[in-house]
Amino acid sequence: MDYIASENRYDKMQYRRCGKSGLMLPAISLGLWHNFGDITPFGVQQSLLRTAFDNGITHFDLANNYGPPYGEAERNFGIHMQRDWKPYRDELVISTKAGYDMWKGPYGDHGSRKYLIASLDQSLKRMNVDYVDIFYHHRPDPDTPIEETMGALEQILRSGKALYVGISNYNAQQTKAAIDALGTHLLIHQPSYSMLNRHIEKPMEGTGSLTDVLRAEGVGCICFAPLQNGLLTGKYLTGIPADSRAAQDPRYLKPSSITEEKLAVISKLNDLAQARGQKLAQMALQWVLRDSVVTSALIGASRPQQIIENVEALNGPAFTEEELKLIDKIVG
Ligand SMILES: NC(=O)c1ccc[n+]([C@@H]2O[C@H](COP(=O)([O-])OP(=O)(O)OC[C@H]3O[C@@H](n4cnc5c(N)ncnc54)[C@H](OP(=O)(O)O)[C@@H]3O)[C@@H](O)[C@H]2O)c1
Repeated sequence: MDYIASENRYDKMQYRRCGKSGLMLPAISLGLWHNFGDITPFGVQQSLLRTAFDNGITHFDLANNYGPPYGEAERNFGIHMQRDWKPYRDELVISTKAGYDMWKGPYGDHGSRKYLIASLDQSLKRMNVDYVDIFYHHRPDPDTPIEETMGALEQILRSGKALYVGISNYNAQQTKAAIDALGTHLLIHQPSYSMLNRHIEKPMEGTGSLTDVLRAEGVGCICFAPLQNGLLTGKYLTGIPADSRAAQDPRYLKPSSITEEKLAVISKLNDLAQARGQKLAQMALQWVLRDSVVTSALIGASRPQQIIENVEALNGPAFTEEELKLIDKIVG
């Protein structure tokens, strides 16, 4: 059936400015890393995207290698684009990335101009779009001069195939070097960040922390895996549910990594969320968004209800100083 977006789609979401730019992003964005490959029914994918947009999520995040297999999430998104999203293209921020191994041979990986430009051309075809809003270099490449990688991003901007450029998984020092080498404004950085993974707050010699660099340079931040692959939802507290990521698609969340030690921490966080009158997932999202340097929390979802519940996080009670200190103490 033809999709008609909800009339009220902009009522629930907050939009936050992405660093010092004109672009506003939804406080919660949807990533297509999991649940958009060949193992997820097309109807499920469609209802995830529709529910997201109906709840004000205007930003969909992809990468060349999302699947499985590689390329499949973009290919599926291209079909969704054709069926549902063409009339709404100007209401959407669509991103993709290149930087990990994508095709055979020396030109399908890392950070060369050759790889990045060819990969974006492939992505545009798969996704059925003329341009992406944001194109990222997916991970730092110590063997390619940063000037070449950033020069490729500039070339992509000039070609009109992306409106903005970003980087992902660069540490504070690498980020500063990228900003200095890029002859235009870096819109955004995409690091991992959650209550259980606070590396972006840790200072590095010469630059301070990644968040210090982003704040000083006016670069936005969209943090991925704010629910730590689903660990910060409490669903694993009483075992591994059969319909969870750890059971269904354990490529990046192995059951063996869900240790008693981690569960003890998650259980304490879960108690605090309950005392605040919310779900642990909601508290985890509110927590990453507590610092205005974070523009958006980039979630994944396996069913529409999770998206609705996660957007509801934006109505949670503000953290007290005591609660923030308690979280620091729990997570160590
Ligand atoms: N730049 C990079 O290198 C990089 C790397 C990784 C990810 N990313 C981006 O970040 C996005 C998000 O990553 P992620 O999927 O790992 O994020 P996440 O938000 O930490 O985990 C999402 C998973 O948690 C579970 N979940 C979500 N909301 C829930 C709720 N309310 N209640 C219960 N369970 C819930 C679902 O898994 P189940 O229901 O299946 O258990 C869902 O698929 C990716 O799609 C991608 O766009 C980028």
